[in-house]
Amino acid sequence: ILQLSFQFVLLSDGRLTFFPGNQTVDLPSINFMKKQGTIFLNAYTNSPICCPSRCKLHNLFTNPFKGLDPDYVTWMDLMEKHGYTTQKFGKLDYTSGHHSVSNRVEAWTRDVDFLLRQEGRPMVKLRGDRKQVRVMEADWRNTDKAVNWIKEEAVNLTQPFVLYLGLNLPHPYPSPYAGENFGSSTFLTSPYWLEKVNYEAIKIPKWSSLSEMHPVDYYSSYTKNCTGEFTKEEVRNIRAFYYAMCAETDAMLGEIISALRGTGLLGKTIIIFTADHGELAMEHRQFYKMSMYEGSSHIPLLVMGPGVREQQQILNAVSLVDNISLLSRIPVPQNLSGYSLIPLLREKAGSEVSPREHRPSWVLSEFHGCNVNSSVYMLRAGKWKYIAYSDGSSVLPQLFDLTADPDELTNVAIKFPVTVRSLDKILLSLVNYPKVSFSVQEYNKQQFISWKQSLGHNYSRIIANLRWHQDWLKDQKKYENAIEKWLVVLEQGKI
Ligand SMILES: *[C@@H]1O[C@H](CO)[C@@H](O)[C@H](O)[C@H]1NC(C)=O
Ligand SMILES: *[C@@H]1O[C@H](CO)[C@@H](O)[C@H](O)[C@H]1NC(C)=O
Ligand SMILES: *[C@@H]1O[C@H](CO)[C@@H](O)[C@H](O)[C@H]1NC(C)=O
Ligand SMILES: *[C@@H]1O[C@H](CO)[C@@H](O)[C@H](O)[C@H]1NC(C)=O
Ligand SMILES: *[C@@H]1O[C@H](CO)[C@@H](O)[C@H](O)[C@H]1NC(C)=O
Ligand SMILES: *[C@@H]1O[C@H](CO)[C@@H](O)[C@H](O)[C@H]1NC(C)=O
Ligand SMILES: *[C@@H]1O[C@H](CO)[C@@H](O)[C@H](O)[C@H]1NC(C)=O
Repeated sequence: ILQLSFQFVLLSDGRLTFFPGNQTVDLPSINFMKKQGTIFLNAYTNSPICCPSRCKLHNLFTNPFKGLDPDYVTWMDLMEKHGYTTQKFGKLDYTSGHHSVSNRVEAWTRDVDFLLRQEGRPMVKLRGDRKQVRVMEADWRNTDKAVNWIKEEAVNLTQPFVLYLGLNLPHPYPSPYAGENFGSSTFLTSPYWLEKVNYEAIKIPKWSSLSEMHPVDYYSSYTKNCTGEFTKEEVRNIRAFYYAMCAETDAMLGEIISALRGTGLLGKTIIIFTADHGELAMEHRQFYKMSMYEGSSHIPLLVMGPGVREQQQILNAVSLVDNISLLSRIPVPQNLSGYSLIPLLREKAGSEVSPREHRPSWVLSEFHGCNVNSSVYMLRAGKWKYIAYSDGSSVLPQLFDLTADPDELTNVAIKFPVTVRSLDKILLSLVNYPKVSFSVQEYNKQQFISWKQSLGHNYSRIIANLRWHQDWLKDQKKYENAIEKWLVVLEQGKI
């Protein structure tokens, strides 16, 4: 019996699962999976935010900027149809309903000519003492449920199972201090987990000056409330707390592995550990996701179990749209995007693309949501990371050489125009991105207009009190006028 145990986490920077990121925090369960299975060193999210990347994960991408219809057939449904018992615990988040009104209005109005802080300032909070193991209680409850299900149900099943556990950690916690409609900017842990972090190994990220930042990065940094002053100590602490939260997540993975071992199921179960996106943890003056920088787009991906090569490190760039469907030997629809990871899982250590698997040498990621005032497309190919914006010409593209500049501090797009042109050509062959960007703008406008109409005379009060209320209330008229101007310009654009 071949079965799958799937653990999915939020905001996990994939670089922590291998050297040198793994020097900063002790992740014993990840290390166990590395020893017993295969690790992907270059795995990327197809979209650095929860909802669309999960849509992909659920193998059913409709629109790049909307969620799935709730009744859409997911890979879990498909597995069930083919005789698997399926069980899920914790966060799923692949339909659009879970994001707050603030998140949505912020995304719809990203082309408006104003700049408002939306997030609370990132901060740390220590809770409990050196004995407090369970900090993120909701995740622990779901982990317990998954463990109990393995011990009580999975052991006696006659057919194979798929178990999915979705965790919130290491996502930052809500910041109620920021008032009504607060965001999540609190990095919270206990001394128990903080002790797993090696402070000496924490790198303090270099920042470019505010005036040198790419304009879209500046928008992200500003709306995430990170353009103020931060001391080195503050940055180091935020990073340390984030790593401690990763250690707590690792312990939940450990519980699943132990339960499988205790029930004798470990040897016949494939375990997959991954995340929907990473976390910047103050790199590039940002926290959170929604960025194509490594911290946010590079995800962990580890697989172990029968048929999976042990102690293997895969260098190929892979994406969350890639699939493991053949692992379960069930037929899958042929019209979905992605490439099978199976040949990689079975190949020799460290080998590059094999000719018999027509896996391309690039991965694509895109983003159209809040905290970024343009549609963004990223192509990772070899040592290059190419980032194109909007219609491809109105916003400066970015090109980073990840071998020479792993911290992505020097945009070399102007220095390598030929590379930019050839990467852009590949990108255009995959997605007509100027057209997609335009339709996202149209979609945002329509959504905003119908939202505004639905509020009637309550509009002014409600829009003023979204997450940006601290800034908005300083000059309500100005911001409302900026919105009116944006709507008019769009109307004219239509004529
Ligand atoms: C970090 O990862 C590297 C390569 O993946 C491995 O050789 C090393 O043992 C790991 N170190 C720790 C402390 O986990
Ligand atoms: C942004 O950070 C400042 C401190 O730098 C804080 O006073 C303010 O409340 C934060 N804004 C929001 C929206 O939380
Ligand atoms: C599993 O099945 C065995 C044998 O039929 C039985 O003894 C045991 O109680 C069952 N376990 C659970 C948790 O139902
Ligand atoms: C994004 O916002 C920044 C900061 O306000 C601005 O300089 C830039 O022009 C905006 N970019 C786009 C594409 O709207
Ligand atoms: C794939 O094809 C199936 C069957 O023809 C159809 O139901 C499904 O909607 C298609 N999926 C996509 C993503 O186009
Ligand atoms: C999975 O990968 C295989 C091989 O590349 C491909 O034929 C198949 O369509 C993919 N399936 C899905 C669901 O993406
Ligand atoms: C406006 O707010 C009032 C009071 O909260 C509520 O009763 C009313 O239904 C709202 N109107 C609309 C159009 O949402």
